[in-house]
Amino acid sequence: MGVGHNQDDAFSMATLDLTTKLGRLTLPNPILVASGTFGYAREMERIVDLGRLGGILPKTITWEPRAGNRPSRTVETSAGLLNAIGLDNDGIELFLEHHLPYLSKLPTKVIVSIAGRDEAEFARLAERLDGLPGIAALELNVSCPNVARGVDFGTDPAKCEAVVRLVTRQCSLPVFAKLTPNVSRIAEIAQAAEAGGADGLSVINTVLGMAVDWRRRAPMLANVVGGLSGPAIKPVALRCVYEVSRAVSIPVIGIGGITNVDDVMEFFVAGASAVQIGTANYFDPLVSMKMLDALPGCLSEAGVETISEIVGTLGTAL
Ligand SMILES: Cc1cc2nc3c(=O)[nH]c(=O)nc-3n(C[C@H](O)[C@H](O)[C@H](O)COP(=O)(O)O)c2cc1C
Repeated sequence: MGVGHNQDDAFSMATLDLTTKLGRLTLPNPILVASGTFGYAREMERIVDLGRLGGILPKTITWEPRAGNRPSRTVETSAGLLNAIGLDNDGIELFLEHHLPYLSKLPTKVIVSIAGRDEAEFARLAERLDGLPGIAALELNVSCPNVARGVDFGTDPAKCEAVVRLVTRQCSLPVFAKLTPNVSRIAEIAQAAEAGGADGLSVINTVLGMAVDWRRRAPMLANVVGGLSGPAIKPVALRCVYEVSRAVSIPVIGIGGITNVDDVMEFFVAGASAVQIGTANYFDPLVSMKMLDALPGCLSEAGVETISEIVGTLGTAL
């Protein structure tokens, strides 16, 4: 009986389909790596089989290069990481010259994260990237807590709708809006992004927080406040994914504190169609590979053959 059972498992696992459709974007599987936590990917190629990932989001790029905030820019907290990097990045021209040629040859999908200082700059970035080989989609970072006015587009529904509309009108790529949890009603922002024409939503960016050194009576971050990430924020992220996915009809990518395959399954059940792994890459660069190894077993345990069968299946009448 034991042998028969194993053969059944092997058969059903072989029929599992990890393909994930996010509107106009189809991914080979639902495990992606989050912007700002995986560099421009080249740094990781000796450790991670990049071709196995469902997708890669390089560090957010801006029009001009940015040096970011002064150090200290990161501090560890209980079950989390607080950062105030301040969008330190090479700017679009260096990205196109040095990083995209490498990224575009990878056998995986590349979703480019962009941040503009205003609507027009978001649109200019999108136009510059539109049609270039190797870019599967754009993610609009309307939710960075560590730059002046960085969250304006993610906290004001009208501004969010306007920037998404402008970008989606001027570029043919699928567009995802990355939302901040640092609002009272995230579902309203999500609906605004959907109204603006977003193909999907990435939920969530970091949670605003701070750390204090009482002996020095000083903040631990030079920027005083920063964005909290890692396991500490998983319950916040799950709640946001749940609320957002019930409020819109476009797909949601879950992000926040995901460290193992059980976390991944929780996000699917809460309403995410795919996930991005962030801080966990720092303490285990192979974490996404381990999730990919374990995912078929979990889907099989759940009695489903595709990701879409489990998405948003949370029963609230328990
Ligand atoms: C050091 C660091 C840098 C980050 N930089 C970016 C960034 O450039 N753009 C962005 O959209 N999100 C950025 N994030 C946020 C992550 O992509 C992710 O949304 C967040 O960390 C929550 O996921 P996690 O708990 O799995 O890390 C950064 C996070 C960290 C920890």
